[in-house]
Amino acid sequence: QEGRPLLQYDLDLLPAFRSVSSAEREWFNHLEAEVYLPIYSKREWIGMLALGAKISGNRYSEEDLVTLSALAGQTAVALDNARLVENLVVPNTELRQAYRALDKANRDLERLDQTKSDFISIASHELRTPLTTIIGYTEMLLEDQELPPSVHPMLKSISKGTRRLHEIMDSMFDIAQIDTRTLQLHVTPVDTGSLIKEVSDGLEKSVKERKQTLTISIPSLPLAKADPNLLKKLFQHLLTNAIKFTPNNGKITIGARTLPTRSAELPHGGVEIVVSDTGVGVDPASQDIIFSKFYQPGDLSKHSTSKTRFKGSGAGLGLALSKGIVEAHGGRIWVESKGYDEVNFPGSKFHVVLPLSNSKNGEETKLGTEVKVQVA
Ligand SMILES: Nc1ncnc2c1ncn2[C@@H]1O[C@H](COP(=O)(O)OP(=O)(O)OP(=O)(O)O)[C@@H](O)[C@H]1O
Ligand SMILES: [Mg+2]
Repeated sequence: QEGRPLLQYDLDLLPAFRSVSSAEREWFNHLEAEVYLPIYSKREWIGMLALGAKISGNRYSEEDLVTLSALAGQTAVALDNARLVENLVVPNTELRQAYRALDKANRDLERLDQTKSDFISIASHELRTPLTTIIGYTEMLLEDQELPPSVHPMLKSISKGTRRLHEIMDSMFDIAQIDTRTLQLHVTPVDTGSLIKEVSDGLEKSVKERKQTLTISIPSLPLAKADPNLLKKLFQHLLTNAIKFTPNNGKITIGARTLPTRSAELPHGGVEIVVSDTGVGVDPASQDIIFSKFYQPGDLSKHSTSKTRFKGSGAGLGLALSKGIVEAHGGRIWVESKGYDEVNFPGSKFHVVLPLSNSKNGEETKLGTEVKVQVA
């Protein structure tokens, strides 16, 4: 209890030793120990070092006992360390098991995501085929002069509906390709200004129907190396969104500029296109999530069904596709808006940055056409 070494000789004289059972005393004698050194760790007695007689036959000196006490102290440290390691083994094993479980869950999720992408891909492909047949025959019927005129509006509705369905299937197919990183880019030099003009021409009717004004003011931009069909889809989505989420009489503006070459992100410079509107705006909390697929804020059942009607519904794929297309080109897309407000209409600005590629040694970068258009 005092932590001091004890000689067998002292032990024999201790009254406490004399009162223990003879079996215990027998056991001690059997050890043939001459000195006992208690091992203490953090004031707790954890063991004992017992040594027999010295080979020389001499008695243990005071000096010997001091050295041995130091040895017992070292043993305590060694035992402590061994215990710590042992204590670590269990949590370590548990940690490894937890890691394994996490890894499995991760792989399951990846497989699930893959299955979902496969499903979208297969479904959109399989559904597009019969849809093409319906569209084809509807067109033929529309041209048939012998049909009574009363069926014309019905056929027109069928045609419009199936075309919309075809568009959604197309978007789903593209999304699946973006997800599985199998989207193929067919890159050529693209004059972004005239491409945007072409897309907006196709939407002129919707802009007029909604009594909105569309102003395009794009300076002559360097040609971007991009996939023109995908870029058309991108601006088609951004523009239909601007029309859809802006009330009647609202304003839509498309501007652009050439970005300098200096940044690390754009080693050869880039072009930035901004589609602005005076619509409902986007809540700051939703400004990232609107670019994920199938995301639409608010109550879906309250949405109307037309593509360009105010707050009309959609599949919620437009921006996910836009992001996929921009990123496949090595660019970036984001929204800037003060927030969602259906009374004051703070508007939104959708920014797209597309990188330019290296123009060969000093060769003059070709410039596209300047576009100034006003649709009202
Ligand atoms: N210009 C905008 N102004 C305000 N909110 C917008 C604008 N563009 C997109 N949003 C918000 O982001 C959501 C996602 O847009 P996205 O284009 O992906 O889907 P959608 O237009 O609802 O459907 P889809 O494009 O597939 O027909 C929209 O439902 C809308 O809430
Ligand atoms: Mg959309």
